[in-house]
Amino acid sequence: MPQNNFASRKSKIAGIGMYVPPNVFTNLDLTKYMDTSDEWIQERTGIQERRYAHRTNETTTTMAVEAATIAIQRAGITPQEIDFIVFATLSPDYYFPGCGVLLQRAMKMKEIGALDVRNQCSGFVYALSVADQFIKTGMYKNILVVGSEKHSFGLDFTTRGRNISVIFGDGAGAVVLQSTEEDNQGILSTHLHSDGESAEILAMYNPGTHANHWMETPVADFNEGEMGDMFMSHAMIDHAQNFPNMDGPAVFKKAIVKFPEVIMEALQTNGLATADINMLIPHQANLRIAQFVQQKLQLRDDQVYNNIQHYGNTTAASVPIALCEAWEKGLIRDGDLVCLAAFGSGFTWASALLRW
Ligand code: ACO
Repeated sequence: MPQNNFASRKSKIAGIGMYVPPNVFTNLDLTKYMDTSDEWIQERTGIQERRYAHRTNETTTTMAVEAATIAIQRAGITPQEIDFIVFATLSPDYYFPGCGVLLQRAMKMKEIGALDVRNQCSGFVYALSVADQFIKTGMYKNILVVGSEKHSFGLDFTTRGRNISVIFGDGAGAVVLQSTEEDNQGILSTHLHSDGESAEILAMYNPGTHANHWMETPVADFNEGEMGDMFMSHAMIDHAQNFPNMDGPAVFKKAIVKFPEVIMEALQTNGLATADINMLIPHQANLRIAQFVQQKLQLRDDQVYNNIQHYGNTTAASVPIALCEAWEKGLIRDGDLVCLAAFGSGFTWASALLRW
């Protein structure tokens, strides 16, 4: 059972920032590479356009630096005052080390701890929960929590990959989570879940150390010189194993059950109801999923914020980007009850309820 009852110390979002690359890629632009249409993409996903990072100048970490710089400034502190980094991404600059240390280096922070979270679409909410626990125990005061993705580097831009590649976009969001003893502000509770039964339904298999069942030659039969190929070989590339794989309808069916469930869990834990929510920020997976959740929970349009139309699905970055944009537009005010919710690959799903 979740433990959300540490003493009186809580965490609050003291600063928030976002960054999306300037390069806009419309649905029409995608039709130059694959057999798709603006009509199909908008009807099935709600997406009109997304941003793609510059191929060479921008990485997951450089985008995170942009978002984090704004979040830190808005918190009224300096990078040297950050005590810990929690970085959520599925598209790291390197296979290892993770982006947390790259962000620490780029922002010239002290030799603080840096942790990478690999929970895909629910990565930011997981990261926020991890940071929240560190603050509640009194271990840290200011934690930088980041979600950043450069999807455009690894999508199949042919008709073969169209069910996935049209969905994703690049960007970053960051918050400074800060210790507070104020009663009426901050994170009320977080709720984390997983079910690995369907792990392969939404996954990128390689590079990885799993047995490649689709290959006819068992590992033991490989000659010494061929062993390295098991990690990433031409055959894997031919089988599109280096691109994300998704059974879209299966993800959809599970998402529309788990989203409302984890939102209700957060509300019930705090003795609150859907009517109390001022703003729900759902992970921007697909506009149809968000609309289904809104309908199921009988929320008004002004209680839910969506921006997938302009950024696509930015995975770990989508919740902080949407939260930041909603706040910048004045749609979230001091004292508002804000619910963050996400569902994604794993499957993992999560929610966080906070008083702004
Ligand atoms: N353009 C045109 N046609 C396409 C495209 C495309 N980009 N992609 C797929 N199609 C075709 C398919 O080939 C199929 O053709 P067929 O009937 O001739 O076989 C047809 O469209 C229907 O395919 P489905 O996959 O059944 O389409 P669906 O209506 O389910 O929409 C989608 C696909 C958008 C992926 C949907 O299943 C979905 O949103 N699923 C949820 C998954 C999700 O949100 N993922 C987000 C990323 S993961 C995450 O955030 C957790």
